[in-house]
Formats: sequence, C-alpha cells, structure tokens
Amino acid sequence: MKVLVVGNGGREHALAWKLLQRERIRQVICIPGNGGTATTKGCQNLPLRVDDFEGIARFALVQNVSLVIVGPELPLSLGITDYLQHEGLTVFGPSKEGSQIEASKCWAKTLMQSAGIPTPGFEVFTNLSAAIAYLETAVAPIVVKADGLAAGKGVTVAATLEEAKTAVETLFHNGFSTVVIEECVTGQEVSILALTDGVSVRPLLPAQDHKRIGEGDTGENTGGMGAYAPAPLVTPALMERIEKEILKPTVNALRQRGIDYRGILYAGLMITPQGPTVLEFNCRFGDPETQAILPLLETPLEELLLACSQKRLEQLPEIAWKPGVAVCVVAAAQGYPGTYQKGQVITGIEQAEELGAKVFCAGTQLKQQQLVTNGGRVLNVTATGETFEEAIATAYAAMDCIQFEGMYYRKDIGHRVVSTTSSLD
Ligand code: GLY
Repeated sequence: MKVLVVGNGGREHALAWKLLQRERIRQVICIPGNGGTATTKGCQNLPLRVDDFEGIARFALVQNVSLVIVGPELPLSLGITDYLQHEGLTVFGPSKEGSQIEASKCWAKTLMQSAGIPTPGFEVFTNLSAAIAYLETAVAPIVVKADGLAAGKGVTVAATLEEAKTAVETLFHNGFSTVVIEECVTGQEVSILALTDGVSVRPLLPAQDHKRIGEGDTGENTGGMGAYAPAPLVTPALMERIEKEILKPTVNALRQRGIDYRGILYAGLMITPQGPTVLEFNCRFGDPETQAILPLLETPLEELLLACSQKRLEQLPEIAWKPGVAVCVVAAAQGYPGTYQKGQVITGIEQAEELGAKVFCAGTQLKQQQLVTNGGRVLNVTATGETFEEAIATAYAAMDCIQFEGMYYRKDIGHRVVSTTSSLD
C-alpha cells in the first residue's frame, strides 16, 4: 500500500521510517518532506504546499494512496481532512472543527470547563485594556496564551505582572484578537498522545518533552529540544486516571458537540500534587515526542492509524510495545528559536547511526546531493536502550559524530528521569 505523509519535520521522518518497516507499505510519499525523507529508501518527497489541498487530493487519487497522515496542525486547522475525505480518501487527522482543540485556546478551555475536565482557571479577553485591567489585580506568576496557532510562540509563563502585561500587549500588537490569561500551576509536564476514532481512546506511551532552549529548563520556549518515553512519572494508576478524567471525557465532549474526532488527541498535562490538569490539547502527533515513542511501538503503525480513520479502534487488540526506553535529542541551528542561518552542510549521520542511534531529519534539505540545514530544529538523534542511562549515552555518543556550523543541542535531555531513577536506587 502507498501512504502519504503531510509535513516536513522530524515527526514526519519518524512516521515514514516506522511505516516503511512493514513489507505491506510499498511507498511513503512526503509532502513536502525534508532531506531525511528524500534519502530514505521507499520514501519520496513531493514538493507541494501543505495547504494545496486540491494538488494533494489529485496526487493521492491518481496514485491510489490508501492512507493520508497529516502531521502539522496548520493544514488540519485549515480543513485538509474535510477536503480529502470529501474526495473519498482515508485520512488520519481530525476535521477543521475538531482541530479547534489546538487552534483556539479559548474554544478548548471552554470545552474543558463545560465538560468538567481539569484545567487551570482562566479568563478570556478580546481587548487590550480589559486584559491590562485584569492584570492590575491578578497575582504572578501567571500564564498568557494567544488564541490561535503561534508556532510554539503563543505562551508566556510570566514571572511578574509587568511581564504578563508586555506579553498581552505583544499578542494584541501582533494581530491576535483574543488572549487567554490562565492560572499558573506547578508540577512536571507530560505529553500524552492518544489515538482515537471519535469513540475509543488508546493512549500511546507517556512522554516528556524539554521545551526550553537552555539546559536546566532555562531560556526561551521552543518547539521541543528533546524527549523521552515512557515517562516513569506516569505510573499505570496515573495513566488510568488520565484516561478516565481527561481523555475519555474529552472525546465524549467532542462527540456530543457533533465532532467526529479521528486522529491524535495530544494532552499536554501538568502533574500537580492534586492530580493531572490539562495545560493544552494538540490535534496531532507531538514533535519530538513522536520520535521517542515510535521506536518502541510493536503494533504495526498503519494498522492503528487505519483503525482510527475507519472507526474500528475498539476491535484492535491492546497496543504492543517493545521493552526498553527511548531518548531523542534535538540538534538546532545557532540562534533558534530566534533567527538562524540555513544552508550549513551536515556531516556524520552515517557514523552516528553506526553507533545504534537513528537520526530523524527535521529542518534539512538535499542541495546538490548534500544534506544542508533548512530550519531551526535540524535533526533528532534518537536512541533506545534497556535503561535511560544507556539510551542517553548512545544518543549523545551519536550526536558527537554529527557536525554542522552553529550546531546547538542541550546536554541534559533526560536529566529529570535519570536523577529520579538514581535517587530511587
Ligand atoms: N513538543 C511539543 C509539541 O509537539 O507541541
């Protein structure tokens, strides 16, 4: 069968790599893909825009594509699933209406509030002066969120009210018409990516991301600088609670609103002393969490995604996982998440993979047969192991083989889990 993957990140390279481990997958086409998918055997890039729904549909129909997997939130929020389904294609990813769970913080918070799903307290503002007046009497730290897609730059955890005011001003100034101001909760963040066909819900392994650019979780927020799975913090009992209190009620609430949500429901949770609470929902696979989760997946990926798209997830046996753990370390371009250069030559991937790691490409492209940088997050070096110590050691040894000018990566990916495990010894 032929599968089409929409997107160009490390997540999409990981999806294509995982799919191609199955003999029944004859070809994966990535739109537009990256330097890694361009050089993966069985994979081909197609240079279409992710919002060229007509072009994508035409290609998929002519090529008899069996499944379209949509990676990023932007085409989902623009209605790619609705369009392709209308053309008769099988699509993994929620409809435009369902994607509001990520595309509108205000919509998602209101859904959670009315369905009794735990989430920090919040207020919604549609004008600057009301938001500033509210902040005059609020207590810091406090969280300011843009109500719309902001490529990972829409959330400020403000340590002071002055910082919160600046964040609100910046969002309105940048054209957002609505902002959400939210209570700041503390604890550890976890990412729960769950498969759903709109009725059944099957969580994947819990993962933890490292959102800040700097070691020790300092500096600016990024799309994610590294991840690991399974996150030991999420015990079976906690996962049961997350399913019961968050995932199932959310899918039910969506269905009650007439939304047939088929795809990934990604719950970004804070595990507080009182229990899990939802910081945000995403309507897609997380990046880089996916790169840490998929190497551990035993059940064929396409069977799971097809079952979601065809509304028969309930009929599948439990998801099977390989033993062990996985760690993914992101290499970024100098300057990211701010401005950065493109076009730097990347070397050492073969040597890195000889050490047992898998390198998923993100912001890369092939230029005159050379792999060069083409984005902020450039590569994801992923390693599995029996223990986190082993997986971390392999990932960093592999990272040492890779070079490009201005390459930056955090040296402490997995620090939380290693210090937790050692303190339990
Ligand atoms: N890793 C965060 C995200 O995918 O949104």
